[in-house]
Amino acid sequence: MRRQHCFVYYDSMSTRFCVLLAFLFSLSSIPSSRGQSSASVWDGVYTAGQAGVGKAEYQANCASCHGDKLQGRGQTPPLIDSDFTSRWDGMTLGELFDKMQSSMPADRPGQLKPEQNAAILAYLLEQNHFPAGSQTLPSDADTLKPIRFIEKRPAK
Ligand code: HEC
Repeated sequence: MRRQHCFVYYDSMSTRFCVLLAFLFSLSSIPSSRGQSSASVWDGVYTAGQAGVGKAEYQANCASCHGDKLQGRGQTPPLIDSDFTSRWDGMTLGELFDKMQSSMPADRPGQLKPEQNAAILAYLLEQNHFPAGSQTLPSDADTLKPIRFIEKRPAK
C-alpha cells in the first residue's frame, strides 16, 4: 500500500515536471515564431527622402574609402551588389547598423549620430535595389533587429 502511494506521488511529480518542461518549451518558441513573421528589407522599410539625406552623409563620411559609387577600393570592401548583399544575407539590419555605428567611419569610429547612420543605411538599401516605403528606418539597433537582410526577394 505504502509503495503504491509513493508511486502515485512520484507520478504526479513527473507530470508536474513535464508540464514545466512543456511551458519552458512554449516560451522558447515565442521568439522564433516572431522571427518568422518579421519584416525584411523587401518590405519598404525606409523612405526615399531618408535615402536622399543618406546619400549626402555617405558622400561626406564614407565615400573617401568606400568610393563615390559604393564600389570599394583597395582593402575597403564594396557596399553594393552581390559582394555586399551576399555577405549580409541572412543577417539583420540591427547587425549591419551596429557594424556601422561601432566601427565606421574606420578612421573615426562611432562619431556619427544614430540618425545619420540610419539615413546612410537607407541609402545603402536604395542603391542595392531594395524598395522604399512610407516608414522612416528607425535609428536604433534594437528596433532594427527584427528586420531581416535577405539578398533575394522571397517568393510570396
Ligand atoms: C578610413 C576608411 C573608411 C571610412 C571613412 C569608412 N569605412 Fe567602412 N570599412 C572600411 C574598411 C577598411 C572596412 C573593412 C574592415 C571592416 O569590416 O571593419 C570597412 C567595412 C565596412 C562595412 C562592412 C562591409 C561588409 O560587407 O562586411 C560597412 C557596412 C561599412 N564599412 C560602412 C561604412 C559607412 C556607412 C561609412 C561612413 C559612415 C564607412 N564605412 C566609412 C574603411 C572605411
